[in-house]
Amino acid sequence: MAKNISRRDALKNMGKAMGAVVLATSGLSAFAAAAPEKKRLVFYFTATGNSLFVAKQFSDKPLSIPQELKSDKLVYEADEIGFVFPDYAATAPLIVREFVEKATFKAPYIFSVITFGNAAVNVTEWWDNYAKEHGVVNNYINTLLMVDNYLPVFDMNQQMKIEKNTDENLAKIVADVNAGKGLIPEVGEQAGFMAGMLKQLQDSHFPMEAERLLAIDRDRCIECNTCSQVCPSGNFRIGDNGLEFSGSCEYCLACVHSCPQKALYLQAGERNREARYRHPEVSLGEIIRSNRQ
Ligand SMILES: Cc1cc2nc3c(=O)[nH]c(=O)nc-3n(C[C@H](O)[C@H](O)[C@H](O)COP(=O)(O)O)c2cc1C
Repeated sequence: MAKNISRRDALKNMGKAMGAVVLATSGLSAFAAAAPEKKRLVFYFTATGNSLFVAKQFSDKPLSIPQELKSDKLVYEADEIGFVFPDYAATAPLIVREFVEKATFKAPYIFSVITFGNAAVNVTEWWDNYAKEHGVVNNYINTLLMVDNYLPVFDMNQQMKIEKNTDENLAKIVADVNAGKGLIPEVGEQAGFMAGMLKQLQDSHFPMEAERLLAIDRDRCIECNTCSQVCPSGNFRIGDNGLEFSGSCEYCLACVHSCPQKALYLQAGERNREARYRHPEVSLGEIIRSNRQ
């Protein structure tokens, strides 16, 4: 038996039926008005949050490289794949290199954003070539100037005061990537010359032994284990005599920057031992979740 319906409902139903006919004849699904969502995977490594902050502008759920490396099935397929990591002496951190060497990536669009604090030199060229050697062909590589967390040279209190136009530059990079733009920056002669000088630094820095790099002020250490939780290499433990560290070190300085007591420092000297840094929009919990072993 036909139910009595109001004129308003009848019009609504008619509209729905008309819409269905239009969609059926045009061969479109009910959601055809919106462009299909692209699947984008973003991988990052961070010590002090800069690269995580950037990765979060590209994805709600960026994937931490140290956590991904725990899986034995490192095969990724998506419409877009992105890498965000810090520049270490015009190269990528060892853990990023390990990830690219071990994993397989399939995507028609691959982009990389390398955060740096002072001089990117030829890092884009280096990464372009390195990634290619391991089967990853970037469509877009860019660098982003942020706070420089390299403690031997920079005072974090001063770094945090320098205007680096990060937000403006990041907005441009996000717009480029969302538009699927291609870019592999040309490296000038000067960068080529500086890259030669950096080679020496790279060789002396990586890999680094934790025991050669770090020192501890035992009067300050409260054995809270924060260093252990933020270390992507699992180099710390509380032993019978308190905090101990050993093993191959990324030289990422997450432990030194995150220590709430400023008990960890660099043997070789620092610009300001009392100044430490974490990106203001990244929590300690996020660094721990990114790196814990
Ligand atoms: C070992 C090491 C080497 C670095 N080398 C460079 C460099 O050559 N050029 C540069 O501009 N920044 C350099 N930096 C600074 C970082 O690339 C920069 O602060 C980055 O944004 C930190 O990212 P994160 O907060 O995600 O760890 C270096 C930092 C470290 C710890």
